[in-house]
Amino acid sequence: MKAVTQTRYGAPEQVLRLEDLARPAPGPGEVLIRLRATSVNTPDWIAVAGVPYLLRLQGRPAGAVRGTDIAGDVAALGPGVDDLAVGDPVFGSAWASKTTRAGTFAEYTVAPAAQLIAKPASLAYEDAAAAVMSGLTALTALTETAPAREGQRILVNGASGGVGTFAIQIAKHRGAHVTAVCGPDNRDLVRGLGADRAIDYTTEDFTTGQDRYDTILDNVLNHPPRRALRTLAPGGVYIPNSVGNTGGLLAGLDRFAGAALLGRLGRADVRTTDAACTRDRLAALARLLETGAVTPVIDRAYPLEQTAAAVAHMLGHHARGNIVITMRPRPARS
Ligand SMILES: NC(=O)c1ccc[n+]([C@@H]2O[C@H](COP(=O)([O-])OP(=O)(O)OC[C@H]3O[C@@H](n4cnc5c(N)ncnc54)[C@H](OP(=O)(O)O)[C@@H]3O)[C@@H](O)[C@H]2O)c1
Repeated sequence: MKAVTQTRYGAPEQVLRLEDLARPAPGPGEVLIRLRATSVNTPDWIAVAGVPYLLRLQGRPAGAVRGTDIAGDVAALGPGVDDLAVGDPVFGSAWASKTTRAGTFAEYTVAPAAQLIAKPASLAYEDAAAAVMSGLTALTALTETAPAREGQRILVNGASGGVGTFAIQIAKHRGAHVTAVCGPDNRDLVRGLGADRAIDYTTEDFTTGQDRYDTILDNVLNHPPRRALRTLAPGGVYIPNSVGNTGGLLAGLDRFAGAALLGRLGRADVRTTDAACTRDRLAALARLLETGAVTPVIDRAYPLEQTAAAVAHMLGHHARGNIVITMRPRPARS
């Protein structure tokens, strides 16, 4: 199979290359998937670029295949998987799969069956792939970490990116009033997704404004957390949700840790969120996608051969929505 591998850290165009690899084999409880589409997420460019630099202490990447989001068809079942069948269209995540080198920047991947569900027929593979990590992160943040409620005022910082475009729609679907912070070129995009107010961060700093918010989902952490916390309404929740944007040794880990510490010290209600992929969460996301309550925003779809360009685009930090990678249909062979 064709797969994109990485042997050292650096600029995507310099460290990613297309190779022929053997297909991974599904172990107990796992599924081999013939991928039709995947997407690029923050953990992918972090792993490629090797930021925060602390990450490099874990050693050279040694031919790793990056990527986690899955939209494709079941190609084979590992022992013990009896609720999926070969040929089923599925979507989900290969994140934390124990199988070596089973990333999704490839024609085939392996994932735990517990992280896959049937792809709704009405959902295109590209949209399904775009939705997994970005959609699950926004969904978990706004339905579990700090459940959005009717009439609440919610601010999404980094509203025009992968997570932000889902967050706006999910918060609006739950009846909240949404303030979306983005760059000047994306104000129309976020308003079109339902945001009640768009703040252009180049002309207005939300941390110095008079408005107060019940929830702040901060996908950028470009402000010191103590300043963002000042804009919380009484009882409000701050969700720091960004690592990597600032590059360098710590790449924002310091701000993330600082926010968590302020929460521990009782200065505010600070809650971290995660995008762990479970069947229940995928099913909740699938319902939103099927009903049209939420529509993935796709900036651009790249063919697998151009994965390095796709990762470089994400590294620019200004993707409009999600970046997708598609696999050309090929005759079945190893
Ligand atoms: N908790 C989890 O499990 C989990 C999972 C996935 C991702 N994440 C985190 O979620 C964050 C967002 O991910 P994503 O996929 O949405 O990233 P993304 O698509 O790259 O989003 C970029 C966003 O940041 C904004 N931005 C860029 N530079 C900015 C600046 N200088 N000031 C203010 N805003 C700026 C962009 O606005 P414009 O383009 O409009 O300028 C855009 O809205 C990441 O930092 C990642 O660490 C967490």
